[in-house]
Amino acid sequence: MTQTSSHQPAGSAPVLVLAAGGTVAGATLDELRRRDVAVRALVRRPRPADDPGIEWVVGDLRDPGVLTAALRGVRTVLYVTPHENDETAMADLVVRATRAAGVRLVFVGVHVSTRTVRGWLLHHVFRLLLPAYVPKLKIGRMVERTLPDAALVVPSNFYDNDLTFLTDIEAGEYPTPIRRVNRVAVSDIAEVCADALTDPAFPAGTHGVSGPASLSGEESAAAWAEALGRPVRYVGNDPEAWEAALCRGIPEGKRRRDWRNSFRALGRMSMKTSPRDVEETTRLLGRPPLDYRSWVAAQVRSRAEVGS
Ligand SMILES: NC(=O)c1ccc[n+]([C@@H]2O[C@H](COP(=O)([O-])OP(=O)(O)OC[C@H]3O[C@@H](n4cnc5c(N)ncnc54)[C@H](OP(=O)(O)O)[C@@H]3O)[C@@H](O)[C@H]2O)c1
Repeated sequence: MTQTSSHQPAGSAPVLVLAAGGTVAGATLDELRRRDVAVRALVRRPRPADDPGIEWVVGDLRDPGVLTAALRGVRTVLYVTPHENDETAMADLVVRATRAAGVRLVFVGVHVSTRTVRGWLLHHVFRLLLPAYVPKLKIGRMVERTLPDAALVVPSNFYDNDLTFLTDIEAGEYPTPIRRVNRVAVSDIAEVCADALTDPAFPAGTHGVSGPASLSGEESAAAWAEALGRPVRYVGNDPEAWEAALCRGIPEGKRRRDWRNSFRALGRMSMKTSPRDVEETTRLLGRPPLDYRSWVAAQVRSRAEVGS
């Protein structure tokens, strides 16, 4: 394990962010940085920039020695389970190391709590409908069973997935197959994670994080068209266009396969937004979750600012 830089403010134990270069973990790191929280961040590749307030640790999650050392002296740890073939074995290592260190885990992933009869039934329906998600569901269950004080943050579909296909969208085609599903901003997920990592009173257990509404692919395309001021056509019902966009956007590997499986299901299934989930997200954030049109408009504005 190599440390590339270390500038910890004295006085408070740091929060550990594992796999800190990922979408949700990286956004949480940014949120913690905004709040001036001391952070230790584990990444696979060294970071070039000197980053005050962040203690960068370079190492692989598969190495139990790296995990044990990274967990030493931290107050909480964030783990967003990555798209890797050995995701279950990696999560097992993280859960064991976290338990051995006596550190509270904040977990982000796909999860349906089996603590209620309704949850148990839903868990099994999910397993039947989405067999590719069985390992992910196992991971959540393992966290829930092994670490009673863990906070499990369970987000819906990310708005930020669109950024993977920005070139297609800017060229006038919205490629992602979406029949109708709840979508949420990664920045909102990151705020909830930052609270869970820093507030000892943040309740243990499962917390769904949802956006305000379920959206179709056509509605998603229309929001981009409005923000860009030119037509954006939904082509998510054309499997060839989707496969081509997927291959352009994501390198061959588990992540691409997971996205292919997810959107195969999301292109067919319509999922209503649960008012209870929106209420819980609003309570956790202390405000309503960001709506999709505002998120899209902000993306277009920030790209225009960078370009000008
Ligand atoms: N996308 C959605 O709409 C959605 C919705 C709900 C739930 N989810 C769940 O969210 C999770 C993915 O989150 P994400 O998109 O934030 O992840 P992500 O962007 O794919 O990031 C994964 C990170 O894990 C790191 N990593 C992988 N293997 C590692 C190892 N052995 N050691 C150290 N680091 C390692 C990667 O490092 P490198 O940067 O070095 O590659 C990468 O930074 C999945 O479980 C998915 O099912 C996604």
